[in-house]
Amino acid sequence: MAIDLENNLDATSTASPTQFPLVRMRRLRGHAKLRELIKETRLSVQDLVAPIFVTASTGQRQPIAAMPGHFRFSVDQLDQEIRCFAELNIPAVLLFGLPEYKDAQGSAAVLQQGVVQQAIRRIKEISPQTLIIADLCFCGYTDHGHCGVVHEKNGKVEVANDETLILLAAQAVSLAAAGADVIAPSGMMDGMVRAIRNGLDQAGYREIPILSYAVKFASAFYGPFREAAQCAPKMADRKGYQMDPANGREALREAQLDIAEGADMLMVKPALAYLDIISRIKGQFPEIPLAAYQVSGEYSMIKAAAANGWVDETLVMMESLTAIKRAGTDFIITYFAKDVARLLDH
Ligand code: PBG
Repeated sequence: MAIDLENNLDATSTASPTQFPLVRMRRLRGHAKLRELIKETRLSVQDLVAPIFVTASTGQRQPIAAMPGHFRFSVDQLDQEIRCFAELNIPAVLLFGLPEYKDAQGSAAVLQQGVVQQAIRRIKEISPQTLIIADLCFCGYTDHGHCGVVHEKNGKVEVANDETLILLAAQAVSLAAAGADVIAPSGMMDGMVRAIRNGLDQAGYREIPILSYAVKFASAFYGPFREAAQCAPKMADRKGYQMDPANGREALREAQLDIAEGADMLMVKPALAYLDIISRIKGQFPEIPLAAYQVSGEYSMIKAAAANGWVDETLVMMESLTAIKRAGTDFIITYFAKDVARLLDH
């Protein structure tokens, strides 16, 4: 049936005021400035956290092959990068360490002369206004590459949860003592937030907030990071502690438990494949600040496709990050932090 526009637009028309042709959504899309006025989600530099890899020894600025534009810096080579973040008004960094040595207990994670501890002190000197978030995990420090103490039972590798908690609390205290502003445990141990909160409080760091990687999936999107941080598990995988990508309801339980244990902020990781999780957690716990981590694989895929000329890097970067914010995050950890800052600066 042909639509009788003349008749429908007549004042006496019985057409519903919520329907075409009275309603035309395209009216709001015709002018660039109007589109700006009605934009619901705006990405800002203030939303971004820049991850950075710090390696032991000196004079190092090692490119990470799978993550173009990213390097492993030794502490003495950090200054330029940190100044660059500060000049671009990037508010925060997230630190990962590649220690001098690895052992079964990850003992290099708790040294006051540890690589991240030194980096924290250096960053505080160069750029005191930068917020320093310290990732808290053992996989980069253990020789087996797991996120805690490992026991082998009948040929099966098991990460001992409660033993690991003691080490995590010690690591948190060590990082806080070095000057970390926020502690971000990423190991997915049960009870980790509570153990770290207790450890920090007892050591007098009551004011240091915890950003919990509450909902961290056992994801193949971490591939490039494991090269960057040299932390791939030597045997087995992380499915015994990180979450199954198939589970959404379980993510709500993880979030609820971490809030109850005293987490000040939560994180979902990875980001783009888990927008539904972000949205559900924000819906259920709107009062808790929520972050998402656009992880290494998400970054590398965009970089690789763009390098081939298959997608427009800037547009895909902005679309992905805007979607992550729209889904309900308050801030985003992203390897694109500098690129976004430069883009929005113009
Ligand atoms: C350590 C850790 C990982 C990432 C952040 N912290 C790797 C892993 O769990 O295997 C991944 C970050 C990224 O891919 O960018 N537990």
